[in-house]
Amino acid sequence: MSSASSAPGKIILFGEHAVVYNRPALAVPVMQVHADVEISDSVRTGIWILAPDISLDAELSTLPPTDALRAVIERVFQTLGISPYPALEIKISSSIPVASGLGSGAAVSVALIRALAATLGQALSDSQVNTLTYEIERLHHGTPSGIDNTVITYAKPVYFVRGQPIETFHVGRPFTLVIGNTGVNAPTKESVGDVRKHWQADPAHWEQLFDRVAQIVRQARAAIETGDTVALGPLMDANHAILQTLTVSSVELDRLVDAAKSAGAAGAKLSGGGRGGNMIALVTPQRVDEVVRALHLAGAKSTIVTTIQ
Ligand code: PMV
Repeated sequence: MSSASSAPGKIILFGEHAVVYNRPALAVPVMQVHADVEISDSVRTGIWILAPDISLDAELSTLPPTDALRAVIERVFQTLGISPYPALEIKISSSIPVASGLGSGAAVSVALIRALAATLGQALSDSQVNTLTYEIERLHHGTPSGIDNTVITYAKPVYFVRGQPIETFHVGRPFTLVIGNTGVNAPTKESVGDVRKHWQADPAHWEQLFDRVAQIVRQARAAIETGDTVALGPLMDANHAILQTLTVSSVELDRLVDAAKSAGAAGAKLSGGGRGGNMIALVTPQRVDEVVRALHLAGAKSTIVTTIQ
């Protein structure tokens, strides 16, 4: 029994936070980074999890019941009706920066679920993988919209509306993004929780803000589908301005957004939960190097250049 599986990172292009309140959002997979899982028989009894990135070499039952990896493995066995557990060695590695809005947790879950099912010779549909991953996301993020697990499970551009069947969108003309990481670990649960408090305090006003985001998302989808990349930059700027009003930007994010714009990016915004994590900048191929340099000078800990097509 052995198998391997890999899942990409993801980035939200437009609509984060408002998506929790049933507005649409656009997100795409980022293939340059991925989570990889390899499973083989173990000579040791039990299920051994090796994740050198986080210095983990432990047997499943010694992990706290709330541990995300333990939860994934137990849920897969439960779903597939596997008992007693076989002796396995599970190797996990990931090049996706953690807690930065690139979906590292969901990518590990998706790769782990698929590798486990394959090892056990059982088939799980994409929809089952998606549902299982969402359940794990819920344990850690409180009220996730489900966008991360959907984009990562299907590895396609997604126009996401909470609770609705997956809808992909077409990219009329490829465009390039530079993703800049602030290096600040910011739990999505906290920014989502804070937005909820503001919304509860003044629902009418915050619903209006979410409506404006929804309008931007719909315009952005139309621009991407018709290949009107020129329209995208200002839409990113407008979405970032609303995210600032939603209180989820930060000094570090704003500094990277401003640096990218000054270096010639056509638009820039934070991406994901905010307060830290990543921002994205829309660049022409000629501007890539300049924007990457400017982001590093402004404090970015890492950058990824990705072409959406
Ligand atoms: O930080 P990320 O990339 O996991 O994204 C969070 C996106 C939010 O809209 C803020 C929350 C959600 O569950 O959709």
